[in-house]
Amino acid sequence: VEVQIDVENKKKISDLLMGVFFEDINYAADGGLYAELVQNRDFEYRLSDKKGSDTSWHSYKAWSLKGEEGTFKIDSVNPLHPNNVHYAILNIEKAGTALVNAGFDGIPLKAGERYNVSLFARNPQEKAIALLIRLIDEHGKLLGEARIRAIKGNWRKYEAAISVKADAAKASLEIIPQEAGEIALDMISLFPEKTFKGRKNGLRADLAQTIADLHPRFVRFPGGCVAHGDGLGNMYRWQNTIGPLEARVPQRNLWNYHQTAGLGYFEYFQFCEDIGAEPVPVVPAGVPCQNSSTGGAGQQGGVPMAEMEAYIQEVLDLIEYANGDTHTVWGKKRAEAGHPKPFNLKYIGIGNEDLISDIFEERFTMIFNRVREKHPEITVIGTVGPSFEGTDYTEGWLIANKLQVPMVDEHYYQSPGWFIHNQAYYDKYDRSKAKVYLGEYAAHLPGRPSNLETALAEAIHLTSLERNGDVVSMASYAPLLAKEDHTQWKPDLIYFNNTEVKPTVGYFVQQIYGQHAGDIYLPTQVRLSNTEEAVKKRLAISVVRDTKSGDAIVKIVNLLPVSTRVALNLEPLGNISTDALKISLAGNPEDEALRPKSTPIAVTKNFKDELPAYSFTVLRFKIV
Ligand code: AHR
Repeated sequence: VEVQIDVENKKKISDLLMGVFFEDINYAADGGLYAELVQNRDFEYRLSDKKGSDTSWHSYKAWSLKGEEGTFKIDSVNPLHPNNVHYAILNIEKAGTALVNAGFDGIPLKAGERYNVSLFARNPQEKAIALLIRLIDEHGKLLGEARIRAIKGNWRKYEAAISVKADAAKASLEIIPQEAGEIALDMISLFPEKTFKGRKNGLRADLAQTIADLHPRFVRFPGGCVAHGDGLGNMYRWQNTIGPLEARVPQRNLWNYHQTAGLGYFEYFQFCEDIGAEPVPVVPAGVPCQNSSTGGAGQQGGVPMAEMEAYIQEVLDLIEYANGDTHTVWGKKRAEAGHPKPFNLKYIGIGNEDLISDIFEERFTMIFNRVREKHPEITVIGTVGPSFEGTDYTEGWLIANKLQVPMVDEHYYQSPGWFIHNQAYYDKYDRSKAKVYLGEYAAHLPGRPSNLETALAEAIHLTSLERNGDVVSMASYAPLLAKEDHTQWKPDLIYFNNTEVKPTVGYFVQQIYGQHAGDIYLPTQVRLSNTEEAVKKRLAISVVRDTKSGDAIVKIVNLLPVSTRVALNLEPLGNISTDALKISLAGNPEDEALRPKSTPIAVTKNFKDELPAYSFTVLRFKIV
């Protein structure tokens, strides 16, 4: 392969291209990124959280009583908060009986670290009750304990910290009243002190860091299908997820489990700020998934017209929550949560791959027009329809063109072959129309592995996204996270369990693109000795420059089963530093556990290299 770089026809491309799509699917939030270690802390799990024959999803889930001399029941009279009506009543005949939480597949603990316990308690009796709180490993060994001394009177929050003396993968939390009597308990919580950036109510540090290492320029949240829900009663309403934890509204997750909303809009915005990514919230377009679902309330279609004004206000309030000053109603709530400065929201998604129907169009148009009118500074991202086989985006694009929506969200999950054969997908997009946010994509093989073959197909597609970075502004692989043994969708970018994080090969492709992004694209002419179409399509190259660092970055994907010699003429770039970084990801197409290798190398103006079969190679060097 001979590659010639064309500096004359360089073009400006989006510097936001690489981002992440976060959805609470596969236990990505509760039991995942959200660092809470107690499962069902609020006793709000319900049978209706879970479809199918599993009858264990109720207020008692993950809780049990240890010891015979007492009872444990759930009550809802005079609750801590009307949004959180269930709580536990422990009636102890003799001190020693414990209320036990099993965590999410056990509670993982690390030796030498501190854990913060908090709970709400009510003790209407005259005599104060003390609680002993213990962390016990799977063999019954005590790992640490703390005491809450005098609980008396109406609902109040109590806190303690426990230092842990040994590692445990599957510990449990025990709450042990020290006196006989009755005590009501709710919002029983255990967090590691070391959360990501030390945030209270924060995120699991190792997982959050793995996401941060992608260097995402934006984070889309809270989905996916979770954003619009599978019925009107299941739409993700952002206000339900802010404020004190006990006042948030938990709900059924359409991926067949429970959402506490502990990881809510405030935490999403905070995470974005912590990793230097633009927040991209996606709100429902006034319709749930495919806008035909019957949903919890049994209603067909979208938000009733009589309620649309209130719904639109909800969307406008979100912008005020993110950006309004502290004297505004919603800006004040943000300040009360600990963030007086605005979050500087610039983008908002309206709708998630909705069925493009009249019901959708009517509601989307109403919301879009009002947001545009009140907040011209915000870029609205519309949706052009579902990613299902057999659907196309024609109707969605017609609406976007009619309304002059500035950006639209496209989704597709396709085979590696599709990605190889559709590298020209965006080359013909009309540059005068909406920009594209490729909000969900991934290469899918039968059995849905994430291996070098899928990763290289995605890498090939990303070369074409960089080439079209003047029209494709943002892109995010989907889904991002999956907990082992709780996976509803495959493949995902990062797998994890309670103690390990397991990035896929595809993760490293995303990371390389994220860490070696550019804002200027330089076209190339590629000459191949073998001119067969099938060969040409399995080799792709992209050259970008990053204005900030002054670096040039060359990315080459070789999806051929043979190694290929490449000759790069770097002369047109001017004076280049001979010190370069080479990153290489290579192996067998089925490999699932590859890691990229980085090596310093020397480059010359006539750079020659041998690209291994099935490889992704990146060169980064300075232009001096
Ligand atoms: O990424 C998984 C799902 O795929 C998303 O929730 C949905 O938007 C899409 O169909």
